[in-house]
Amino acid sequence: MMRTYHCFWLLFWIGHPHQSSSISLSKRTSGFLVNTKILDLSRNSKKELHRSKRSWMWNQFFLLEEYTGSDYQYVGKLHSDQDKGDGSLKYILSGDGAGDLFIINENTGDIQATRRLDREEKPVYILRAQAINKRTGRPVEPESEFIIKIHDINDNEPLFTKDVYNASVPEMSDVGTFVVQVTATDADDPTYGNSARVVYSILQGQPYFSVESESGIIKTALLNMDRENREQYQVVIQAKDMGGQMGGLSGTTTVNITLTDVNDNPPRFPQSAYQFKIPESAPPDSPVGRIKATDADVGQNAAMEYSIIEGDGSEMFGVITDKETQEGIITVKKALDFEKKRQFTLKVEASNPHVDPRFLYLGPFKDVTTVRIQVEDVDEPPVFSRPAYVLEVKEDVQINTVIGTVTARDPDSAKNPIKYSVDRHTDMDRIFNIDSGNGSVFTSKLLDRETLLWHNITVIAAEINNPKESSRVPVFIKVLDVNDNAPEFAMFYETFVCENAKAEQLIQTLSAVDKDDAFGGHKFSFTLAPEVASSSNFTLQDNRDNTAGIYTRKTRYNRHEMNMYLLPVVISDNEYPIQSSTETVTIRLQWCYLQP
Ligand SMILES: *[C@@H]1O[C@H](CO)[C@@H](O)[C@H](O)[C@H]1NC(C)=O
Ligand SMILES: *[C@@H]1O[C@H](CO)[C@@H](O)[C@H](O)[C@H]1NC(C)=O
Ligand SMILES: *[C@@H]1O[C@H](CO)[C@@H](O)[C@H](O)[C@H]1NC(C)=O
Ligand SMILES: *[C@@H]1O[C@H](CO)[C@@H](O)[C@H](O)[C@H]1NC(C)=O
Ligand SMILES: *[C@@H]1O[C@H](CO)[C@@H](O)[C@H](O)[C@H]1NC(C)=O
Repeated sequence: MMRTYHCFWLLFWIGHPHQSSSISLSKRTSGFLVNTKILDLSRNSKKELHRSKRSWMWNQFFLLEEYTGSDYQYVGKLHSDQDKGDGSLKYILSGDGAGDLFIINENTGDIQATRRLDREEKPVYILRAQAINKRTGRPVEPESEFIIKIHDINDNEPLFTKDVYNASVPEMSDVGTFVVQVTATDADDPTYGNSARVVYSILQGQPYFSVESESGIIKTALLNMDRENREQYQVVIQAKDMGGQMGGLSGTTTVNITLTDVNDNPPRFPQSAYQFKIPESAPPDSPVGRIKATDADVGQNAAMEYSIIEGDGSEMFGVITDKETQEGIITVKKALDFEKKRQFTLKVEASNPHVDPRFLYLGPFKDVTTVRIQVEDVDEPPVFSRPAYVLEVKEDVQINTVIGTVTARDPDSAKNPIKYSVDRHTDMDRIFNIDSGNGSVFTSKLLDRETLLWHNITVIAAEINNPKESSRVPVFIKVLDVNDNAPEFAMFYETFVCENAKAEQLIQTLSAVDKDDAFGGHKFSFTLAPEVASSSNFTLQDNRDNTAGIYTRKTRYNRHEMNMYLLPVVISDNEYPIQSSTETVTIRLQWCYLQP
């Protein structure tokens, strides 16, 4: 069978008519293969066209995007080697945009684009070509695929990723310190020409900042940029494609740069001396006044610490730092006394706790000021010579006996006279009185230790011309014992004796008590009352241990003669003065069956 060779010719058009070339398509195999050789102009657009093998591509048409001509843009020509030029063949196009975007002259095979094309929208179109016999309607070639590639032109400007950048860098940074990187992108074809090659430059912001043309990195460009001088900078960066060449497209962005604070300013007291007044009555921890050192820095770089470094008031006053306001608050440390010292001087230092060693060459980050404090006199209440008094008084004293003296004085320099009184709430029964002039406390009633041992009263001292200035002091009055109570039986004694008792039998043991306070213990003595001592039918034996025994004196007692005896016993203490009492023991007679 005869081998038939078929072939399409593709003619194409690039940019300008004089650059057009017709390419011969060689038949490679049987069937409908289109072998297209096309010049690749992407790399050597400015040089002469090379027809080296390396630069031929197959199966492609090229078309420039963004064609601005009024007529249709010519794409190229399809040609089959079966076409004898007699008009018997018809070319048919199908695929992406066929019949709409791309139209073909069915007789000549010329392809045209009906609209302007945008590479950034669609860079490649895939189409198919066929040649058929007009008469038979049969294809003379198998269908073949080819592509139309849209060539880039620089129709997109670089776009920054942000309209406004916000960045910060510490003040006083070294030249070349990184601030921020800005980035612009270009939609044009990065693989073709320089349309997408972006170069950065600074339009506004020199001489403070610079930008690296390739990377878009913004850096500081000036030494000693001082936040306290200027804090905000607005830098404008341009990105230009075509490698920054003339004719390139450009876009800009704004970069807001804030200098952040570093501690490059020491604290300074605006005044070399401060003067405060404080009443002597101000209690410890009372504030005396506030001082404040200024600092041009902000935040922790302006934080303060105050301390007293010397001065005759450093014992009496302290300083604390108010962390909110960074002020120093002078406070009272110890109780003041106008009568002792009226004027104090302090040297107070303010320092930055957070220093930056880079700036220590500027000098110490501290400052000192003088604080003078004047103590003011206040009318103070009288002061007692003691915080409390303990007085002792014997319980048997006469009314109007002086039992002790309290003393108060006015601490003020005026030395106002003082008047004493007893707080009646503490002495409702008016047992005591006080001499209002000299503070002597005396009794106004009789006392009894056994009724009340302690009288705890309060004495008031007030200034005579200003009674509001008064003080109070507790006075503990202890009533001392005198032996004013006789001993008595510990209980009522009633006992019995058997009629048939023998002599010298113990029938009762006695003991006694005494309300008086006996130092070293009581020593009671017991005796029978003198009127019965000789005739008594019983005897008493003092055991010398504060007890005594009652004994029978005879054998046999007769119930019918005497059925009850009342035996008087004298008990005395051995205190001074001796107190004694006579108490009676009741003894009943009783018949006992057994000998006791
Ligand atoms: C910009 O940065 C500054 C300092 O870093 C900051 O105070 C400010 O809030 C930022 N502004 C915006 C809009 O991000
Ligand atoms: C940039 O700075 C300008 C002027 O200082 C200001 O109006 C704007 O809000 C700032 N933008 C940002 C994002 O900080
Ligand atoms: C105080 O005055 C009274 C007379 O009113 C006198 O008895 C007493 O001794 C005086 N006390 C002193 C401590 O002088
Ligand atoms: C009075 O004071 C004394 C000594 O402080 C104390 O022992 C006593 O309990 C007090 N008496 C009264 C009634 O407060
Ligand atoms: C002793 O007892 C006798 C009777 O036994 C009586 O007469 C006499 O009065 C008693 N003596 C006294 C002191 O009671």
